[in-house]
Order: sequence, then C-alpha cells, then structure tokens
Amino acid sequence: MKVLSLLLAFVTFPLAAYAAFGYTDNGSEYVIDSGASLVIKVSKTNGDISSMVYNGVEYQGYSGRNTQVEAGLGSSTVTIEQFSSPAPIIKVAVVYKSLKHYIVVRSGNDNVYLFTNKGDDSVAASRYIVRLKGGIFSHEETESDYIDSSETVEAHDILINSDGYTKSKHYQGSNYGRVIDFDYVGRSTDSVGVWLIRSNHEKASGGPFFRSLVCDAGPETESLYEIYFYSMGHTDPQRFGLQGPTVLSFTGGEAPNSALFAQNADWSWIDTLGIDGWTTWADRGWISGVGISGMKLGYEYTVGLSNTDAQYWTKVSSGAAWMIKHVLPGTYTLTVYKKELEVFTSEVTISAGKGSAMHTITLNDDPADVNAIWRIGDWDGTPAGFLNFDAEPMLPTYMHPSDGRLSPWKSGNFIVGTSDNNTFPGYMWTDVNNGHLVYFKLSKEQYTSAHTIRVGLTEAYINGRPQITVNEWTSKLQTASSQGGTRSLTVGTYRGNNVVFSFDVPASAWVQSTSEWQVLKINVVSGSTGSGYLSPAISFDCVDMI
Ligand SMILES: *[C@@H]1O[C@H](CO)[C@@H](O)[C@H](O)[C@H]1NC(C)=O
Ligand SMILES: *[C@@H]1O[C@H](CO)[C@@H](O)[C@H](O)[C@H]1NC(C)=O
Repeated sequence: MKVLSLLLAFVTFPLAAYAAFGYTDNGSEYVIDSGASLVIKVSKTNGDISSMVYNGVEYQGYSGRNTQVEAGLGSSTVTIEQFSSPAPIIKVAVVYKSLKHYIVVRSGNDNVYLFTNKGDDSVAASRYIVRLKGGIFSHEETESDYIDSSETVEAHDILINSDGYTKSKHYQGSNYGRVIDFDYVGRSTDSVGVWLIRSNHEKASGGPFFRSLVCDAGPETESLYEIYFYSMGHTDPQRFGLQGPTVLSFTGGEAPNSALFAQNADWSWIDTLGIDGWTTWADRGWISGVGISGMKLGYEYTVGLSNTDAQYWTKVSSGAAWMIKHVLPGTYTLTVYKKELEVFTSEVTISAGKGSAMHTITLNDDPADVNAIWRIGDWDGTPAGFLNFDAEPMLPTYMHPSDGRLSPWKSGNFIVGTSDNNTFPGYMWTDVNNGHLVYFKLSKEQYTSAHTIRVGLTEAYINGRPQITVNEWTSKLQTASSQGGTRSLTVGTYRGNNVVFSFDVPASAWVQSTSEWQVLKINVVSGSTGSGYLSPAISFDCVDMI
C-alpha cells in the first residue's frame, strides 16, 4: 500500500522542481534519487542498474541490456540501507555466490560509487560495464574502438570497415593508452557528461602500463568499462578482494570532478558503510622517497609497488621527492621503471597507518649503461622507435598488425651504421617476417674476442623466443619466457614481461676480416603453432652487441 501511494505521488507530480534524496521500492527495482539531478533504478533480483535518468533523460541501456557486473549476475540477494552519518547515503548490497557488489549514492551529487568484491574464481567477473543508449554521443569513423562494420579480421572482436580501418574494443592506444595514462573514460555533449572514473586498481592486475579495453561504441551502443582482471595480455596472478570505488559520474557536460580521481580522492567517508573487504582510510600506509639518482634525460620514470594482494604506482620527476599514498599494509616489491623497463627493485614493508621513508634510490639495472659495439633501438621496455612504432601513440596499440596504414612488416635488411632504427620491425612473427638480417663490421680487436648479443623483448606470443645465427654459427635453443595470457600483439598491446635473451657468441663465429660483413640472423622459434599474425611472435625492446 505504501509502495503504491509513493508510486502514485511520483506519477502525479513528475515535474516536482526539488527532488528529495531517498529511495522507493517500485516492486521490482529500488528507485534511488540523488537529491540532485540523477535517479537510478537497481534491480532487486540481480543488482543490475536498469535505469539512469539525468535531468529527466534516460541514458541507460542498449539491446535490452543493463549496466552491470560483466554480463550480469544471476539471481542475487539484494538489500538496501540508508545512512544519515557521515552524510545521507544509500547503499545497495548485492550478494551473488562468493561475489559481493555494492552500489552507493550520496545525497546531493550525481555520482554512483561502485564496489565489487570477488571472493574467488567461481564467479566470472572481469569488469563492470556501463551500457548507454547508442547515438547520443558523436563518433568519428577514424576512432579505433568505434565499431562500424561486421566484417571480421581475426576473432569476432576485431573488425575491418569499408575504408580498411581495423577496429576493436581492445584498441585504446589512440585515446587512453595505459592504465597510468588516464583517470576516467566517458563521453559528453553540451548538456551531459557520462564518466566512469577508474578505481586505484589496487586489486586489478597488470601494473601501471597495462593496456586493455576501457570503452567502445557503435551506432546503437555505447559502453564504458572498469577492468577488474582481464585475461588478454595479463602478466600478474589474479587478485581477489574488494575493488573500488569506481565512480559513475554524471555532469552537465563538463569533465568530472578531479577530487574523485583515484590519485586524489579521500574515501574516509566510506569507512562506516559496512562494505565487506574495505580497509579503513586511516589503516592504510604510505611510502615516500627523497629522490632517484641515475635518471636519464628524455624518459618518464615510475615507482611501483606490487605483491600478490595489491599494486600501486606513481610517476617521478627528475630531482623530485615522490610518495605513494593509501597503501594496504604488507610487504611489496618496489620497482623503478625507466619508461616501462625495470631498472631497480627492492623490498619494502608498509605498516597500517604509518609512513615509510626511503633514501635516494640509485638506479643500478639499466642495460643501456653497458657500452655496446652497436645497438638497435632503445632500452625502455617498449618497441618505440622501431618500424611501425615511431609515432605517438604507437600505431599497433590501436590497429591490427594487418592494417593497411602500417608499413609492411617484412622490411629490408638492417645495416648497422646506415639503417634507421625505424626500419627494424618492432614485432616479428614466424609466419610473417621471420629471419631478419643484420649486417655489421668488426675491427680486428673485436673479431678476435667473444661477444654477447642481447635481444630484449617486451612480450612473446605462444612461446615465441629468439634464436640467432651469426655467419655459420647457430645459438642453442632457449626456453620460452613467462608471458601474458591469450592474445596480445593483435589486440593492441606489446605489454608483457620484459625479458632479455643473451647469446654468447664465440670468437670463432666471426668472419676474420675487417672489410667483410658479419651477418646476424634473428629468428622467432616456438614449439607452438599458429598462423599469420597469430603465429608465434615476439615484440622487441632493443637488440645490441656488447
Ligand atoms: C519498476 O522499474 C522498472 C525498470 O524501469 C520498470 O520496468 C517497471 O515497470 C517498474 N515497476 C513499476 C510497478 O512501475
Ligand atoms: C639507433 O639506436 C641506437 C641506440 O639507441 C642509437 O645509438 C643510434 O644512433 C640509432 N641509429 C640511428 C640511425 O638513429
């Protein structure tokens, strides 16, 4: 009876100027009014958000699908609770098997705070997906994740349009890039902005340079994603536990409030809401450092913390102090990255509610510090500078390697001292451009001694690894490196585990002449098979001889 009269009140006075903060139960959904300009409905059956009305306009859903964890949870226990302290707040709790999901709305602002606590692997939940009506936000045909075709190139999720542009929800390099590069994703018009502000990713996976899908659209669809754990190109073990808040924020068209960004936010008001898995704000610790010595000009450096429970990072400027805040207590591996290459590691322990200080870190593990007889590329943990990777953003991070906008991968032989680095292929596949030749000459002093040829990789696909021949000499077969799961190079990422293969070439391998060419052949080998751009492959960071 009470439900019905509330409903009637709503139907009778739909134009009420001042909406009050609160919720009603319409029978199948909880109807939550932010008290500002947003009204959402949450399904009492499974926790889906089935309606998002901002300033009287519905933005939720396409093809009958809702905004939800993954493709939607099954039948769940859904409860609602209203708090008056520390502010008027409504929390919906959704329990589905071992997964707990929370949807929180705070009086007077148009934000929906989302949390997901994945207890174990029994529930498939790799992401939260905001589904918006298509056609509201404009898109260019050149956008790599704007799907305007149904002709596939590889799997069902990579397409090619009539102009020959390859497209995929995986291709984010042109807009967003790596996790460290963006705070939020979303779309806007003159009158509305719909934004998904990512969480700090402490329980996500892949580190600061992880590349994954974050949004996509088509003429009738528009999706925003928060990735909890995604199987493509992931290199970490999956972390379980509470992720969030991820903030779905509506604005009048302007960018979202930067106070909601993971690196700035103060989430202490969440402490008393009974969110399972939440560590109170005061129980988190921090680490700070006075500076880093040995940083090279022209590179961005990052300090990261990682253990099996959590991950964090911050960028570091030359000569400046640094700090990573709001860290879960624990012992972590601290890594300093030169661009994306690990150049220092140590172990640190963070205690609850306490800070830990580090003296100047002296970088000690940069392969570029070793003088090379010759070097192709740059030790930075990326294929930047090589063929097809000499523009920013790097083309293969937002198109399929078969895309016609790329240069042919089978480029000419590389002549040390003459060829530009951007003629050496950044990726090599057994089926596409195997057996690249490098020509160089040695002095008498050089060809009378053994040398080491180092091949640095950022990722390898289905156990691809380099094998080399030098003139008549062939290297031994190496064991494969540990790399990211499922696809990588074809879904817009070269980001795997950096690894260096070192080949000790004996003096007897060299042509005993200063005028004749020494010929190095680099092959990809693997015990696994695949064809074309899904054949065994490697992504180069740098190749040199020391
Ligand atoms: C409750 O909301 C849902 C979702 O918008 C809607 O489909 C349903 O008809 C509503 N129920 C009533 C009784 O209005
Ligand atoms: C190629 O890269 C190496 C190492 O970074 C550099 O020393 C060399 O000058 C580059 N070659 C050309 C032709 O730019």
